[in-house]
Amino acid sequence: MADCKVMVARATAAEARGPLVALLLTEGEQPAGPLAALDVRAGDVVADALQRGDFRGCRDETLLLYPHDADAPADRLLLVGMGKPEDAGTGPLRRAVGHAVRQAERLRVGALALVVEQMASATGLSAADVARVAADAAVMATWDFRDLKTDPAARDTLPVESLTLFAGDGGGNVVRPAAVIGEVTGRSANLARGLAIRPGNIATPTFLAETALSMATRYGMKATVLDRAAMREEGMKALLAVAAGSQEEPRFIAIEYNGATNGEAPLVLIGKGVTFDSGGISIKPADRMEEMKYDMSGAAGTLGAMSGIAELGLHANVVALIPSTENLPSGTAMKPGDVIGSHLGKTIEVVNTDAEGRLVLVDALSYARRYRPAAVLDAATLTGAVVIALGHHAIGLMGNNDALIEEVRRCGETVGERCWPLPLWKEYREQIDSPVADIRNTGGRPAGSVTAGWFLREFAGDTPWAHLDIAGTAYRDEAAPWLRKGPTGVPARLFIEWVRSRTTG
Ligand code: BES
Ligand code: MN
Ligand code: ZN
Repeated sequence: MADCKVMVARATAAEARGPLVALLLTEGEQPAGPLAALDVRAGDVVADALQRGDFRGCRDETLLLYPHDADAPADRLLLVGMGKPEDAGTGPLRRAVGHAVRQAERLRVGALALVVEQMASATGLSAADVARVAADAAVMATWDFRDLKTDPAARDTLPVESLTLFAGDGGGNVVRPAAVIGEVTGRSANLARGLAIRPGNIATPTFLAETALSMATRYGMKATVLDRAAMREEGMKALLAVAAGSQEEPRFIAIEYNGATNGEAPLVLIGKGVTFDSGGISIKPADRMEEMKYDMSGAAGTLGAMSGIAELGLHANVVALIPSTENLPSGTAMKPGDVIGSHLGKTIEVVNTDAEGRLVLVDALSYARRYRPAAVLDAATLTGAVVIALGHHAIGLMGNNDALIEEVRRCGETVGERCWPLPLWKEYREQIDSPVADIRNTGGRPAGSVTAGWFLREFAGDTPWAHLDIAGTAYRDEAAPWLRKGPTGVPARLFIEWVRSRTTG
């Protein structure tokens, strides 16, 4: 399905028109400013509804109004509640935009309109922030995956094809670029979601490599793909050890985007690309094992981010690295107790073959050194333990550099992919001491996300590096108003925002 298009119109609130104009209100908000200007043209239907108490602006509340004035510009007005004014901000705005999209779908109206001045005055956010978040949220809310249904058109709702943002008289110059960023980040997340939701028999390492190659061609980036033989030559022993159990060809993918001067040190983005994680010989229980098709969400988010970075033409050099393989049991699979090598040269005792993510990642972390990066981020659905620690509301954030961790955390707040730091204190390090090898791949149940982070740290060297454990945030089994059930696109938008913050700051 095509992504929703975002358009910016230089019209004031009073001139807002279209089949459905949504107004986002906080609790107790009275018609004033832009809202009042619009309502006058609509025959005071909004004031009427508020006065009667039919709409109070509570979170998730909606009311559909039909302006009765003959020259009313909008066919329908939708009021959406954002909750208490003191809680107003990007979160409630995103949620309300989601409600507006769902309502448009149900009404089978292909076009939705929002009024920037009105949203800005209701939320207290700047016009630019409102435009960015509304565009991003609308594009993400409209996403749906129907490619594997034999009749993808059969549905009782109609997809929203366009969002018009009414920018006000002079707002276009500020609103337009912000809306573009929102639209591009939303589309990048949707690209990631489309990759993540595809099952393991379709989204194979080869499929991810082909996606990378065609993306590189499209945007004039350089993509390099290593097959098993090339990985062997490169010495990627840890990645190959995970791939040993599978008939499906593994791939190591590198994409280089040059948006800055040639000599500038690149930013490296790494995404875990395990296209299906059965656990290997340490096999997982059957219950919900199908969710492990999402174990390439880090890779999907990284690919989504690269498309967004290229589309925005960000002035930075960026390298994406994706180690990709399946993790399956077989007669050729690695076994618990095996000692394997790695690209860096360290030996690893594989205590549990289900701790495969860190094995594929460390070969990418070590490979990244050749670029002499300014900083490295990796994203991985790495541990079930991060779900125990933070649930589904935050990415587990770790690293070797406090300034970088804070930087990433702030970017996460901006785009609504929130991160929370977990400590890589040295006391945790001994849990992954091995009696036979340099290090072991699991540290037992206590602080499972932290010991996984520590494992990665041993291969990251001195380069500023941060790790995002997205096991709790990459997909969801409950829908939110602005996000359908399934993959969330995390960390595509966070990665784009981080690169962007490094170029404009
Ligand atoms: N891909 C899983 C982590 C995961 C769990 C992702 C739940 C999404 C939802 C990872 O490869 C894994 O199996 N981790 C193990 C590590 C353990 C064996 C030390 C885990 O978390 O159980
Ligand atoms: Mn695993
Ligand atoms: Zn895994």
